[in-house]
Amino acid sequence: MKLNYEKRGTGPTVLLLGHGFPFDHRMWEAQLAGLSDEFTVLAPDFRGMGKSSPSGTPLTTMADMADDLAELLDSLGIEKCTYCGLSMGGYVGLEFWSRHAARLERFILCDSNARCDTPEAAANRLLTADRIEKEASCAFMAEGMKKNLMTDATLRTAEDPNGGPANGVYSVYLRMVSENSPLGVAAAARGMAQRRDFTQLVTQFDIPVLILTGELDVLSPPSAMEELAHTIPGAELAVIPNAAHLSPMEQPEEVDRAIRAFLRK
Ligand code: MLT
Repeated sequence: MKLNYEKRGTGPTVLLLGHGFPFDHRMWEAQLAGLSDEFTVLAPDFRGMGKSSPSGTPLTTMADMADDLAELLDSLGIEKCTYCGLSMGGYVGLEFWSRHAARLERFILCDSNARCDTPEAAANRLLTADRIEKEASCAFMAEGMKKNLMTDATLRTAEDPNGGPANGVYSVYLRMVSENSPLGVAAAARGMAQRRDFTQLVTQFDIPVLILTGELDVLSPPSAMEELAHTIPGAELAVIPNAAHLSPMEQPEEVDRAIRAFLRK
């Protein structure tokens, strides 16, 4: 599977970034720009998303995406990395850890969780996947999801009342969602609906783990992330002020600072 990716920096430590749903590697622009002075930063588009090759099937599992990452590292001659995944990128990361543990030096779970979907959540995802395919577009998702993903402050300045361009974070958000491939996004939604539960397995992590989340993230609230951190041996927790689910986009300097400190240890 050929993945589109952006790679910046030449540092010996490789930071592999896995994007959320239904986004692409552009959500990591501030980390590519801010951390590549010291680290090699690699941000791919998952299968069927962004500019990566289409999945070609109605279902892309988290394991498919995890194996694609291992293949990408092989093709670039990279043996080991630190993985950082946001939300769906975190689900993929947990599969990557389970299937390719030898490739991992450290692990960052960002605005995500280790649970599988409830039956209701899984059923809703399947409905969403069908609607995306029926409408041949992901555009309808942008409006419905935005309140769960960004802070009020980001959304207040999202649109210029004078009809000018939307603010940086919001306009990148809109572009990623609306430009994404409907088939690829629908396939990923079905994959998330049947993802594995990792809540017991994470107790077996034996590499450094950082749990990072936005203070205002309603999907991965700090209380739940703290609880998760307590179940992972030695895990650290970083709560990012004034950020919601898209913390790396909303508060890039704080997120970069937390990641840099973790990678330097
Ligand atoms: C994401 O940002 O990747 C999504 O919130 C993941 C999900 O829907 O569970």
